[in-house]
Amino acid sequence: MSYLKSAALAERGFVILDGYDQSADPMEWHELTFVDWKSSGDTRFAPLASAKGEIEVDGFWNHTPPRTDKDGVWIDSQVEKAPRLTARAKEPGVNVGRCRVIELQPNHYADALYNLHQDDNNRLNPDGTGWIVRAFFNLTDDPDSCLILREDRFNPAGEIRIPLPAGAQVIVDTQRFWHAVWQKGPEPRYCLITSWESGPMLDSYIAKYHGTTENTDIPLDQTVIDEAQALVHRRLSERSAALTAPADLED
Ligand SMILES: [Fe+2]
Repeated sequence: MSYLKSAALAERGFVILDGYDQSADPMEWHELTFVDWKSSGDTRFAPLASAKGEIEVDGFWNHTPPRTDKDGVWIDSQVEKAPRLTARAKEPGVNVGRCRVIELQPNHYADALYNLHQDDNNRLNPDGTGWIVRAFFNLTDDPDSCLILREDRFNPAGEIRIPLPAGAQVIVDTQRFWHAVWQKGPEPRYCLITSWESGPMLDSYIAKYHGTTENTDIPLDQTVIDEAQALVHRRLSERSAALTAPADLED
């Protein structure tokens, strides 16, 4: 057995859908209740669906009983405030796990590289069912910011930098890619992030919105990349030195 994966995502691990007309929508995310949750950078989250329908954003595997990132429970008080965001998350008709709006404060390219991580969406996902992927719907207009994707955490070759204007819609296999967002600011970025189960219904949705792997990267000078890469290595080695230092050295 193996997981059911989307053919549209198999080639490059991500797919970009038609842009959404975000300008026609009310800014529902400003009405939501956010909780502090440090993820990749200085972040807060407003869950629409969580493990048990409570306003918290922990992985479903950290609950009792632990389970994979499926069968998210919609949070009535949040859904009432964000009916359009909820409708967008439900539109494909597939199983939804975690669904939340992320708020990300501005950062630097080197911060984003430092924050690169792989998700663990498919922990406890039963073999033979659909592979869990993530939808990113950018809500604020951040055309100079980007979602960074890397197959190899420390190798900038082949880095993908997907621009994030308002209404950008991207589906990513976030367990395959190292990923993080570079938010240039000056305002925070808001994005609806939803865990979806792959399968024929998701494939139909991707086809309906003309999913493509064609992407024009945010341009970036090689010198900037090299300097940021060096800075990240330095920060990581400083952190590991701090973690292995004897406790009495911290006085
Ligand atoms: Fe992630």
